[in-house]
Amino acid sequence: MEIIRSVKSLDAAVEAARQEGKSIGLVPTMGALHAGHRSLVERARSENDIVIVSVFVNPTQFNNPDDLRTYPRTEEADCRMLEECGVDFAFVPSIEEVYPEPDTRVFDLGPVAEVMEGAMRPGHFNGVAQIVSKLFAMTRPTRAYFGEKDFQQIAVIRRMVALEGFELEIVPCPIVRESDGLALSSRNVRLSAEARAIAPAIRRILLESLRLKADGMSPVETAKATEAAINGVAGLETEYYQIVDAASMQPIGSWDEAGEHGAVGCVTVYCGGVRLIDNIRY
Ligand code: PAF
Repeated sequence: MEIIRSVKSLDAAVEAARQEGKSIGLVPTMGALHAGHRSLVERARSENDIVIVSVFVNPTQFNNPDDLRTYPRTEEADCRMLEECGVDFAFVPSIEEVYPEPDTRVFDLGPVAEVMEGAMRPGHFNGVAQIVSKLFAMTRPTRAYFGEKDFQQIAVIRRMVALEGFELEIVPCPIVRESDGLALSSRNVRLSAEARAIAPAIRRILLESLRLKADGMSPVETAKATEAAINGVAGLETEYYQIVDAASMQPIGSWDEAGEHGAVGCVTVYCGGVRLIDNIRY
């Protein structure tokens, strides 16, 4: 595996691959890699001739400076994992390399970006659109792989792709979980032992909420009861729980309102000061 730090060298590697007619799989990451990332990389490895993984903590998507400062950075271990997975190129640029000048682009991301994470983290999705569009332009991938833990992010990236006219396939990949149900996240390392013991309750309560739907509750009632159950666990505090159409990300009033992609419940929970997100399909 080659570690590439400059856009110029990346461009040369991409150009060589394209000249040879090779397919390119891109896995964008912010590092602190775990088994969830590994599953994305393995999928990319099995479906493409060349695999590029970017490792870059993108400052423009953080609306909280403390979150950016304390975001885990583990470059050496990340590169070891990527090498083990048979990645061809790890793109590990500096901030200056990616943003030689400030990125002032404002994307018209529309309603998918206005609810839930978009409402709670102003500017976050515009920052995601900035970095992902740059990575797509730099790597010109055939396919790009994203984890479904950040379910809304995938909808926002699809919108950015449509706006910018990128021709590539977005490949959503299932959430990878610990054996007790906690969704893998780079932020989990920040959980204290006490918070770590509480956190799996999120998944347990989401699974129990499937029963509420089966018992005839509406999406709004199901969301209310699920949020109350999570908040009933000492040490957990929701920021939101919404049941939305899985493509438009808009809240639904009845289960029939969900289109062909179905309904998804998305939650953000503070657990011992750590912001965790998860979701479940209904
Ligand atoms: O999901 C992430 O880790 C980030 O939002 C992404 C897609 C790598 C962009 O920085």
